[in-house]
Amino acid sequence: MSQIPSRKITVIGAGYVGSTCAQLCAQKNLASEVVLVDVLEGRAQGIALDLNQSAAVEGFLTRVTGTTDPALTAESDVVIMTAGRPRKPGMSRSDLLEINGRIIADVAGSIRRLSPDAIVIVVTNPLDSMVTLMRHHTGFPARRVIGMAGVLDAARFAFFLAEATGTATADVDAMVLGAHGDSMVPMPRHCTINGVAAQDLLDADKLDELAHRTRHGGAEIVGLLKTGSAWYAPAAASVAMAEAILNDSRRMMPCACRLNGEFGFEGLYMGVPAILGSSGVERIVELSLTAEARALMQKTAGSVQADTQTMQDLGLM
Ligand code: NAI
Ligand code: 2OP
Repeated sequence: MSQIPSRKITVIGAGYVGSTCAQLCAQKNLASEVVLVDVLEGRAQGIALDLNQSAAVEGFLTRVTGTTDPALTAESDVVIMTAGRPRKPGMSRSDLLEINGRIIADVAGSIRRLSPDAIVIVVTNPLDSMVTLMRHHTGFPARRVIGMAGVLDAARFAFFLAEATGTATADVDAMVLGAHGDSMVPMPRHCTINGVAAQDLLDADKLDELAHRTRHGGAEIVGLLKTGSAWYAPAAASVAMAEAILNDSRRMMPCACRLNGEFGFEGLYMGVPAILGSSGVERIVELSLTAEARALMQKTAGSVQADTQTMQDLGLM
């Protein structure tokens, strides 16, 4: 490859998720420039230097800039927002609401000013609330502010299904809807292994067990690591969304989107299947749900509404 598209991806937060996002964006030659921003002096600069030095070995053309200065992010095409605190063992995602909410409000202001046409992918937890806040503080159209969680949760479910059926993970298509938390809604009815329904290969009890493990997939890793949370799969999922947007590939992925009547909800961000392309969310895909799935969607929506109320009480929006 002798040329790569002249475009700019900004990754805010050069922690575990952000630095892995920058690495994947570079290795995939997704943009001519990746700007990595962190508030810790030297952190983003050091990671950028290290990544640039890997280019000769990996053969990518992307140039990575590390900085503490938001001005260098100007005119970004896509911004991946990962800045914020991760969970510690025993913490819920909502415990992070206030501290990360203040970071989102601050960063949203610079995105609005410096990259008014960008598409923003929010990763920071608690995800559904943070993407709601990002949209509120950027004022961008909802199609350009999208949350990453469903791609990750579905990838976890896919891995567990592959293990249980003894099949290749790449052959599994899994679906998880709803909020990124314990109330998320894994959809076994919509999971397939190269076109074969997972329900034909596994009994209901096993599927329930795997759905339960998926709901607690993030906490399982937090418990093992003792400090910090997952980053490889989260970064892979975030960059897959950026790639679908930048390449206008119209891939259908479960993402946190602002619902405008779809699934019976209004003005609420939640994980639903969405087609991603150059405008961001090109379309939300509605599914016909069983009565049980509808009830679970109501419950998960309730958790997002409760967090939204807390953010209003905290004066975050
Ligand atoms: P980390 O602690 O390794 O990195 C966060 C980085 O953000 C730190 O380097 C910190 O200095 C930086 N930061 C803080 N305030 C900033 C600001 N105003 N501007 C720029 N940088 C700032 O955390 P990690 O593991 O990378 O996780 C990041 C976030 O992503 C957490 O909130 C975590 O819970 C969330 N997460 C969400 C997932 C999802 O599915 N949506 C999956 C995995 C993580
Ligand atoms: C995860 O699910 C922490 O939300 C993050 O791994």
